[in-house]
Amino acid sequence: MFKNIVNLVRRTSDKDIDQENLLKDALDSSRMPRHVAIIMDGNGRWARRRGMPRSLGHRAGVESLREVVKASSEIGLEVLTVYAFSTENWKRPREEVDSLMDLLVEYLYKEIDDLVKNNVRVRAIGKLDELPPRAQEAVVRAHEMSEKCTGLNFNIALNYGGRAELEDAVRRIGAKVAAGELSPGDINQGVISDHLYTAGQPDPDILIRPAGDLRVSNFLLWQLAYTEFWLTDVMWPDFKKVHLIRAVVDFQRRNRRFGGLNE
Ligand code: IPE
Ligand code: IPE
Ligand code: MG
Repeated sequence: MFKNIVNLVRRTSDKDIDQENLLKDALDSSRMPRHVAIIMDGNGRWARRRGMPRSLGHRAGVESLREVVKASSEIGLEVLTVYAFSTENWKRPREEVDSLMDLLVEYLYKEIDDLVKNNVRVRAIGKLDELPPRAQEAVVRAHEMSEKCTGLNFNIALNYGGRAELEDAVRRIGAKVAAGELSPGDINQGVISDHLYTAGQPDPDILIRPAGDLRVSNFLLWQLAYTEFWLTDVMWPDFKKVHLIRAVVDFQRRNRRFGGLNE
């Protein structure tokens, strides 16, 4: 019965499709963001409001993820980074953590063929060695199967924390200094960026946070220095292609100054 409720709620209406088309026409191809990052939040509240267990909220959230990845490829983004599990999310009840890991494994096994078909390169970022073995296996398989893809770079932040990422980077840089491969005077912002999980990728142009909370929750702390925030009360399971396009259209109207003056 719950499955039907999820299907009912998730169906895209004709109105959404009209809006999508209108907004797509409004997209300025000369001002496209390269990298969009999303904190996929609100699954639990979405489910609770419907009298459903939180795990069904996470399951409904996977549908949004599917739609948003596809839309990101279609509009030509270079990088999409989604926050799926934080280094702090282990504090949740064991059953919820287990069901999130199960969903992740299921998602990777089910979707990888389609992702590869759409030329999407999948990369998990975070402290992957602390994930349960079944999740590590699914991640390795997704990496291997998609490593030659040259379209969208799809980063899934898994057991990810911005502070843990910086800690890892500092440790690796320190090891190079100790080995005499790098001198302390040569450590600069570029060197730090090159030791993050996102090495080689542009910083996010847009950060999207659904579900109404106004915080970064330890996501991409270094990379967000000049990112434009796009916040909405819409819960992640209700987040669709139309919202992604709306965020991009809004981004294109913004005046980014990077500390300088744009007159
Ligand atoms: C986001 O939804 C998914 C994860 C954090 C894994 P939440 O589970 O945080 O949903 P809310 O914020 O409790 O509604
Ligand atoms: C951030 O959401 C992490 C993910 C979406 C994976 P949380 O729900 O964990 O964040 P807080 O606890 O509200 O800050
Ligand atoms: Mg939350």
